[in-house]
Amino acid sequence: MTLDGLSNRAAWLTSAKSHPFDIAPAPIVPPGPSQVLIRAHAVAINPIDYKLQATAFIPLQYPAILGQDVAGEVVAVGAEVNRFKLGDRVLGVTAGSATRKNEERAFQEYVILEEGLTAPVPEGMAYERAVVVPLGATTGAAGLFLEGALGLSLPTERRGEYKEQDGDSGKKEVVLVLGGASSVGISAVQLAVAAGYEVVATSSPRKSETVLQLGATKVFDYHSHGVVDGLLEFTKGKAVVGVLDAVGAQAQAIEFVQKAGGRKLVATTIPFEEPPEGVSVKFIQALSIKGTEVGKVIWETYLPQALSDGRYVPAPEPVVVGKGLESIQKAVDLKARGGTQSDGKKIVVILE
Ligand SMILES: NC(=O)c1ccc[n+]([C@@H]2O[C@H](COP(=O)([O-])OP(=O)(O)OC[C@H]3O[C@@H](n4cnc5c(N)ncnc54)[C@H](OP(=O)(O)O)[C@@H]3O)[C@@H](O)[C@H]2O)c1
Repeated sequence: MTLDGLSNRAAWLTSAKSHPFDIAPAPIVPPGPSQVLIRAHAVAINPIDYKLQATAFIPLQYPAILGQDVAGEVVAVGAEVNRFKLGDRVLGVTAGSATRKNEERAFQEYVILEEGLTAPVPEGMAYERAVVVPLGATTGAAGLFLEGALGLSLPTERRGEYKEQDGDSGKKEVVLVLGGASSVGISAVQLAVAAGYEVVATSSPRKSETVLQLGATKVFDYHSHGVVDGLLEFTKGKAVVGVLDAVGAQAQAIEFVQKAGGRKLVATTIPFEEPPEGVSVKFIQALSIKGTEVGKVIWETYLPQALSDGRYVPAPEPVVVGKGLESIQKAVDLKARGGTQSDGKKIVVILE
């Protein structure tokens, strides 16, 4: 395979906490046997991007490239890749936060993706719309379905649907998603509904309509003092099979599982400081689905089909804030500020 004639540039973090990114040449690395190389057309911004830049809370080797969510066109495929060919339009979550390899990061023109963490972009779907999916869906899936997290049935199994609970036939098992309008939360809502569970969620009132539209039965305002009481009342008599805390709503998660019947099990995107006795808390690591049955089902079966037939809606809605690598710093800064332009939206930069 030859990559002659291609040149790459990246948004580099030259040292810990450096700002702004330095836009400079970067190597192009040929894909490994199970990888594809793509020309990035759109990237989305996640909280980890500004946290890594601002606080350097995870040690990186500098200069470093950041970025998790990317969509673009396949320009080279590894020897064992059989799901993709040159010219395919794809979306994927980069594996760089696990491998620490700069070529497996999103904020550059040419990006390496694992075949197993990549899906086709459906015909007619713009890259900027598809690119909101990867990290949210991966994290939601890891939290809901991995044995080391909530261990629920996958969308392809649908065992959660209308299961009899203590003679209570016709009721669905319930999953509570705290932060149902966040990127991880809105993905988890859709995945849990697809797997046959009833979903109850929390969000801001202005975002609750979207969470309901994407499948939640009931959404509670997370600012309200009575939120946990409301959740308890609503889920009374139902079989709650777990809580997915997408946003670090520790106090609400713990109070809920302590007072509710059902499994005292919380999967969280942010580690709990001191989980109380009797409550099992599982920290979600998105990339832990790589190479698992969950990863295979989500990335190779469920997402390709459900994105294509509209059962899975790319959410939150994208807001494009700029074009080119030069716009990524502005986009990351906007995400860090929680800018009003991005309220309830996923911040996206178009690269080509
Ligand atoms: N461990 C992992 O593998 C992993 C992977 C992905 C993300 N994460 C982490 O997970 C967290 C969420 O990421 P994300 O991308 O989903 O975030 P996001 O899309 O930026 O969503 C954040 C939104 O959540 C809402 N929110 C904040 N606190 C809330 C609460 N207590 N209850 C309900 N909603 C609340 C806020 O909405 P309002 O503006 O309406 O208040 C906020 O805008 C971040 O801390 C991220 O770093 C971890």
